[in-house]
Amino acid sequence: MNRESPEQQTRSSLVDRFNRRINYLRISVTDRCDLRCIYCMSEDMEFVPRSQLLTLEELFRVGKSFVEMGVRKIRITGGEPLTRRGVMQLFESLGELDGLDDLTLTTNGTLLHRYAKTLQRAGVTRVNISLDSLQEARFRKITRIGDIRRTLTGIDAALEAGFQRVKINSVILKNRNHDEIPALVAFAEKRGMDISFIEEMPLGETGDHDRAELYYSSQQVLQDLQPHYDLIATTDTTGGPARYYRINDSNTRVGFISPHSHNFCDHCNRVRLTAEGRLLLCLGQEHSMDLRRVVRANPLDDEPLRQAIIDAMKIKPKGHEFDLTAKPVLFRHMNVTGG
Ligand code: GTP
Ligand code: 5AD
Ligand code: SF4
Repeated sequence: MNRESPEQQTRSSLVDRFNRRINYLRISVTDRCDLRCIYCMSEDMEFVPRSQLLTLEELFRVGKSFVEMGVRKIRITGGEPLTRRGVMQLFESLGELDGLDDLTLTTNGTLLHRYAKTLQRAGVTRVNISLDSLQEARFRKITRIGDIRRTLTGIDAALEAGFQRVKINSVILKNRNHDEIPALVAFAEKRGMDISFIEEMPLGETGDHDRAELYYSSQQVLQDLQPHYDLIATTDTTGGPARYYRINDSNTRVGFISPHSHNFCDHCNRVRLTAEGRLLLCLGQEHSMDLRRVVRANPLDDEPLRQAIIDAMKIKPKGHEFDLTAKPVLFRHMNVTGG
């Protein structure tokens, strides 16, 4: 006998064909960014015209519907999410949603000195900040235009604001920054932060480098760390794809996001909303559902939106097929989905 209330039944509806339960939504609020990281964007990017973006109210409507159907974690990404005008309003309204356990942000940190405290007060629990190098000139090279001082000031502001957790994300590229792996861990450890090392994914042409040539596996990162740190494998999870190790006698965890060497698609629990309102069912595939059309056709009724979300689960693919040696199959750059 089914003892669930009608509401709970709707909660269990976000299950895909492979029996994976979807409880995590990533929302990209803009594809624009104040940096141009070489693994993420090409030098000349065309961005979506602002008129095509979902409004902040529409983004909230979609987020709220997902939470009503069982999503427990929302991560706001971009582009650089903090460059979207008025975005604090979205954090504030999402932060008030009953049933949302984790409201998180992925950012490059350049605007955190201004917004960290407001974000924390709005209910943001955890913040991930991208930092691939500690050297000023190299940071500039990797981000093409960035000033490391802004990101470092942003990290300090996040630490002062009192989030549950602040994490560094480092994409490691052979001969570009792989020699900084122990230094990046030391940086994180000194400040009581976690750090994740990420294998580069082939999304969109970035025009800068051959991705196979610069591939640096998580296994290599781990090996580079072993002479310096006593790393203990854990079963910890943040609901994300990282596998975590704990540094002995320290509060810091070192995560590995390894789409190539350790595929995690079998346990995928997430979907992504682009700033234009396209619901992407997999980071590495094009299967998607146009939610903007549904939202706009039904301004006062959320039922069609909920139905469209349930229908979308049926087209969630089994996983990505990333191949570093071939040309990117996906034209879409990472800034469209924010990872
Ligand atoms: P937490 O676990 O909540 O800390 O977040 P996260 O590490 O999942 O999120 P974040 O936005 O910091 O992303 C870190 C990296 O993980 C980015 O490079 C993302 O592209 C990558 N990532 C996140 N989810 C997926 C996924 O489903 N598939 C793949 N291939 N990569 C993902
Ligand atoms: N491969 C792997 N990670 C990427 N990111 C951006 N582009 C790529 C890519 N091609 C990372 C950023 C940020 C996170 C959202 O995704 O560094 O930390
Ligand atoms: Fe901007 Fe993040 Fe892409 Fe870098 S990785 S260009 S910070 S969206």
